[in-house]
Amino acid sequence: MKKNILICGAGGFIGGHLVNYFRNNGGFNIVCADIKPIEYWFQIFEDTKKHSLDLKEFENCLKVTSNIDYVFNMACNMGGMGFIENNKAECMLSVLINTNLLRACKINDIKRYFFSSSACVYNAQKQKQTFVKGLKEADAYPAEPEDGYGWEKLFSERMCRHFTEDFNLDTRIVRYHNIFGPLGTYDGGREKAPAALCRKIINAKINKKKDIEVWGDGEQTRSFLYIEDCIEGTLKVFNSNSNNVFNVGSDEQVSINQMIEIIENIANYKVKKNYDLSKPKGVRGRSSDNTFIKSELSWEPSIKLKDGLEKTYSWIYDQIASGSNISKFSRSNI
Ligand code: GDD
Repeated sequence: MKKNILICGAGGFIGGHLVNYFRNNGGFNIVCADIKPIEYWFQIFEDTKKHSLDLKEFENCLKVTSNIDYVFNMACNMGGMGFIENNKAECMLSVLINTNLLRACKINDIKRYFFSSSACVYNAQKQKQTFVKGLKEADAYPAEPEDGYGWEKLFSERMCRHFTEDFNLDTRIVRYHNIFGPLGTYDGGREKAPAALCRKIINAKINKKKDIEVWGDGEQTRSFLYIEDCIEGTLKVFNSNSNNVFNVGSDEQVSINQMIEIIENIANYKVKKNYDLSKPKGVRGRSSDNTFIKSELSWEPSIKLKDGLEKTYSWIYDQIASGSNISKFSRSNI
């Protein structure tokens, strides 16, 4: 008999790609849940069961987890730096999703629960320089995470751990490092740097303008993980026997200026960068150390930043060129 799998946050970026993976690989009845009205889900599949409801409410969590074997919690109120720095309370309220889902999973005897955490849990002191050493899983403690969003993620990680220890609920946790790719947010305020900078360069090219606004001085560094690698890493952790927390990220570090140069080459269009130091900048440098996941689960990402950006640029270009730039991809997921 096919197992029943629930994907929370199925209307969002990673959730939508995960649903598609399970559809293509068979073996499960797929149940989807998201707070957005269904017409605003980033990917909508006819062959899945869909619930549009607020998972911050316990009754809704009880309802969607009934008769489910496995739960993926990809649901949270999130975005790039422009969103999380200015919406700390909203980000922290996502704790209700994880809390009520865990309670419901315990009652409904779920076999395995997956929690999507974030690189924002890492201690700020280890991210004060550009081109930092990759962050190891242990670097989350002593705790000094990103204010708001990062504290919620770190707290929810621990709640998962204690539901495993105290109630025997099998949990899996990953920390995602800036995931990007097609079918994600690229405008509206929640977009992250790869999509935002593709959009800015595309708009400059289409409108024959040179200037783009860059947040900060462009020297800050990050590593970005392409969505296909993200889904592969997610499943590697989910299917493993380990309750440890794992990084799912890339260790290919770039400065924002270097990423802009890669996008300029893809676009075949040079821009003039206007740096706005008053805009949200986040940490100075962040990257993933993949030693642990490589040694424990034999996994590491395989898609180069340039290749992922080519696919992302081309998808955003098509969206903008077809006039759909005020689209469901810029909708709030509150
Ligand atoms: N979003 C955005 N838009 N960022 C820009 C832009 C722009 O137009 N121009 C420059 N940046 C800079 C930001 O100032 C920041 O220093 C860097 O690009 C990366 O910004 P984001 O991609 O928005 O976020 P982040 O890497 O700091 O954090 C993101 O990834 C975390 C996981 O690694 C966020 O999405 C977090 O929510 C997430 O946990």
